Amino acid sequence: MDRIGSSYDAVAGEYAERIGDELDGKPLDRALLGALAAMCGDGPLVDAGCGPGHVTAHLAGLGARAVGVDLSPGMVAVARRRRPDLAFVAGDLCRLPFGDGVFGGALAAYAVIHLDAAARRRAFAELHRVVRPGGPLLVSFHTAHLEHAGPVLHLSQWWGHEVDLDFRFLDPAEVAAELAAAGWTPHARVEREPLPGVEAPTRRCTLLALRG
Ligand SMILES: C[S@@+](CC[C@H](N)C(=O)[O-])C[C@H]1O[C@@H](n2cnc3c(N)ncnc32)[C@H](O)[C@@H]1O
Repeated sequence: MDRIGSSYDAVAGEYAERIGDELDGKPLDRALLGALAAMCGDGPLVDAGCGPGHVTAHLAGLGARAVGVDLSPGMVAVARRRRPDLAFVAGDLCRLPFGDGVFGGALAAYAVIHLDAAARRRAFAELHRVVRPGGPLLVSFHTAHLEHAGPVLHLSQWWGHEVDLDFRFLDPAEVAAELAAAGWTPHARVEREPLPGVEAPTRRCTLLALRG
């Protein structure tokens, strides 16, 4: 986890500049986030692996009481600077700093893409612990890179910053099985192509599951 956190510390400011407004060009993602916010009822929502907090801010704009948590203190600092009115905390998705059942729902948007299968299982179990029964979880991840073959893309440089990151391309059926093993009931699955000029050239999947 250390190398993931320090890598995101290195790119935090630039990530916010480049990606902080991305939802403006992503109507389908906005629709999915709208569904998530609507399904949380009056409970707060945790944005796990929130990065610079732009999605947390979007959820707050929809009326959700959204809280962001991220492994990278640099990302958390950027998120707090951008939105000092919202709550952002440093923490590991595999050991969330929250009590049992305190959230109405959860989001993990491209947050498990650096985790191996064992860590993903811990993350999904932790999300299950902090979300109340029946609450929704939205998980987004990359399934394939259009210009790179293979299940993992390793980056040692990202936008000119030194990093040490493995980007994993995940099989939706495998992630769905990991969610089910952690107690999540499948509800919806959306797969899509990348939006040219808006995002990295990767195929993506979003799974919506309900806490059993
Ligand atoms: C690709 S970024 C996605 C950020 C944001 N969710 C988005 O959609 O733009 C991945 C984020 O997940 C965070 N992350 C990775 N592993 C994590 C973990 N174990 N616990 C918490 N955050 C983690 C990283 O620090 C980074 O900010």
